[in-house]
Amino acid sequence: MKKYLSTKFKRILVTGGAGFIGSNFIFKNLHDKKLKIFNLDKISYSSNNFFTEETLIKNQNNLSFLRVDLKDQMGTRNALEFSKPDLIINFAAESHVDKSIINPRLFLESNTIGTFNLLEEVRSYWNKLSLNKKDDFRFLHISTDEVFGTLTKEGKFSENSPYLPSSPYSASKAASDHFVNSWHITYKIPTIIVNCSNNYGPRQYPEKLIPLTIKNIINNIEIPIYGDGTNRRDWIYVDDHIDALFLTSLNGLPGKKYCIGGGNDISNIELVKFICKKIDQITQRESKAELLIKFIKDRPGHDYRYSIDSSLIKKDLNWQPITGIDEGLDKTIQWYLNNPNWLKIKNS
Ligand SMILES: NC(=O)c1ccc[n+]([C@@H]2O[C@H](COP(=O)([O-])OP(=O)(O)OC[C@H]3O[C@@H](n4cnc5c(N)ncnc54)[C@H](O)[C@@H]3O)[C@@H](O)[C@H]2O)c1
Repeated sequence: MKKYLSTKFKRILVTGGAGFIGSNFIFKNLHDKKLKIFNLDKISYSSNNFFTEETLIKNQNNLSFLRVDLKDQMGTRNALEFSKPDLIINFAAESHVDKSIINPRLFLESNTIGTFNLLEEVRSYWNKLSLNKKDDFRFLHISTDEVFGTLTKEGKFSENSPYLPSSPYSASKAASDHFVNSWHITYKIPTIIVNCSNNYGPRQYPEKLIPLTIKNIINNIEIPIYGDGTNRRDWIYVDDHIDALFLTSLNGLPGKKYCIGGGNDISNIELVKFICKKIDQITQRESKAELLIKFIKDRPGHDYRYSIDSSLIKKDLNWQPITGIDEGLDKTIQWYLNNPNWLKIKNS
């Protein structure tokens, strides 16, 4: 069944739409021809550059690209005035924890100040809307489970979990969540925050565990794993996250937070071995891919475990993740094997 955001919204501003989740989100909504999509992105190393290509923009007359860095408040203002959105989905963020440890200021500026600038410009834009348009407007802020810090072997994060970020990345996201929430309480902007677990799927930059593992197996080079590999994550296939964002945009309540998890709680080493076995089977490699695994010194502040209790969004918005880890990994591996040029570009 095809789903249409245009049943409620006509003009949507997607920030970070050239990134992994944002690009998948845009691709899923391009069939919705009554929806005008504006992709705002600064374009960084992790972006899918074809979103800037004129051919794509020409062929898809419901998609426009705006090259703007949210750090630039005037540029952000112009983008809002140009796009006149009734829905904003804020994906834009520097997203790699390792990089945040090396250059924390970049994360403060991009993620926290960037979101602050966007909120400020949204506030002045929203204040000028008619009463009806004010009510219907939504600002969806995409956040992460990492803002809650780490779990021990037991328990799950939920909407009531306290914030306890461990890394500069998660601290910058936590701060942006607080700004978003306060813009709802103070200025009544209809914001919603979603905190999602680790995503995987096509078009993810191969610095993240799953595409890095696939890329290294294809190139027959070592697969680095932090510490002893027992850290656990709750993996979600990107399309399931996008389904949750679709429902949240249409039916989520302003001021609410929704926690989203795939329900696949698995250790890094189990996950990597699983991928190795799958690629061995598909590509008939001469030696076992598992032999490429190399344990390396653990990352400082490495959270042990994330896991999400998604019962609120399941109950209130009737959402369910439908892609199990087995099927999701098959689709993901196949996508990277079918798109060797994409991986080559990301290597260079
Ligand atoms: N990938 C995950 O597992 C995951 C899980 C939960 C939440 N999230 C959140 O989802 C969002 C998207 O993550 P992703 O994995 O697609 O990241 P990504 O790194 O693949 O893409 C991020 C995109 O945002 C753009 N961007 C960054 N800062 C910007 C700025 N200041 N102005 C304009 N554009 C900017 C980048 O150029 C890039 O194209 C992020 O907010 C991230 O915190 C990601």
